Amino acid sequence: MSKKSIRQTAKDDTVKTMSTNDFFRIRLSTIRPLEPVPFDIFIFIDGKMINYLKQGDAFKADKVQALHKKDTGESFFVLNDKKQFYRDYVKSSMNSALLSNNDKAAILRESSIAILEDLFENPDVGLALADSRPIVADLIQFMDIAPESIGNLISLSGHDFYTYNHSFDVSIYSLGLGQALGFDKKTLEELGQSSLFHDVGKRNVSIEILCKKGPLDEKEWAEMRMHPQFGLKILNEQPSISEAIKAACYEHHESWSGGGYPQDLSGPEIHPFGRIVALTDTYDAMTTQRSYNVPMKPAEALNMMKNKLSGRFDPEMLKAMYSVLFKMKAS
Ligand SMILES: [Fe+2]
Ligand SMILES: [Fe+2]
Repeated sequence: MSKKSIRQTAKDDTVKTMSTNDFFRIRLSTIRPLEPVPFDIFIFIDGKMINYLKQGDAFKADKVQALHKKDTGESFFVLNDKKQFYRDYVKSSMNSALLSNNDKAAILRESSIAILEDLFENPDVGLALADSRPIVADLIQFMDIAPESIGNLISLSGHDFYTYNHSFDVSIYSLGLGQALGFDKKTLEELGQSSLFHDVGKRNVSIEILCKKGPLDEKEWAEMRMHPQFGLKILNEQPSISEAIKAACYEHHESWSGGGYPQDLSGPEIHPFGRIVALTDTYDAMTTQRSYNVPMKPAEALNMMKNKLSGRFDPEMLKAMYSVLFKMKAS
C-alpha cells in the first residue's frame, strides 16, 4: 500500500492531511447490516481514502450483498484511533444470541486476519506483538466457550501467498495442540503469539521468492532458509520478548531426529514451542492450496507425517495432534 499522504476533508470542514498509515483494514463481513456502525468506514480508491459510511449510519440490506462481493480484503478501512471501537464492536457480535457459534468463528477469523494484515505490514514489531495479544486472548476464550466450532476458525478458502492466513491457521492448530498437552492459560497465550510471529523473518525474504509460482531453485532456497535467522534478529531488537517466543521463530524448522535448520538440534534440545510449530506449520503447508501443490486431506497429511516424515516430529506431540484434529473435524 502506498505510504503517500492524502488530503481528506474532516467533518468540521477543515482539511486534514492524513496518511494511509492512519488506517487499518477491516473485512466488511464483520459489519452487521441494518445497524448503526459506531465508526466511519473508508474505501481506498484511486490512491485516496473516501469516507464511505459515516459513523452512526447503517448499510442498507440491498447494499450489503453487493458490498460483500466487492470485499477483497484490500479496500475497506477504519481510522487507527477507532481500533478499540472496532474491537468492541466485533466483541459485541461474539456475545450476540442471534449468531451461531459457526458464524461467530467466521467473524472472529475475519476480524483477526484483517488486524493481522495490518500487523504484518507494521514496521514496529514491538507494537505488533503487543497488538496481537488481544487477538490471542479472544481466540483462547472462543476455544473455551465454543470448542465444537474451532474448525470454523481455519481457512476454508485456498491458501494465499501472504503470511497472515498461514500464521493465523498455525496459531489455531498450535493453541489446540497446547490445550491437548495441558498448557496453562499464560503459556497458551505465549504460544498463540509465538505461532502468529513464527515466520516474521519472511519480511526479509524477497517478495519474488515468497510469491514464486513453482519450486525454488537452490539459491532461492538458501535465501528462504534464512528466515529463522532473520526472524531472530528482528525479535532480538525488541526489548522484553520471551525466550519461548524467540524459540518458536528460530527453531520451527528443526527436526526431532536432527538434520533440520539452522542449528541442527534434535529431540528435547528443541524448545517445546519450536516442536509444536514444526508440526502445525508442516500440517498447514500440506493441507492448504499453494500455487504448485494439491492440498492433502487431513488424514492423508497426518499419515504422511507419521510414516514418511515420522523422525521429524516429537512423537508424543504428533499423537496429540490426532485428537486435536479429530475435535476440529467433529465440528
Ligand atoms: Fe517457517
Ligand atoms: Fe510457517
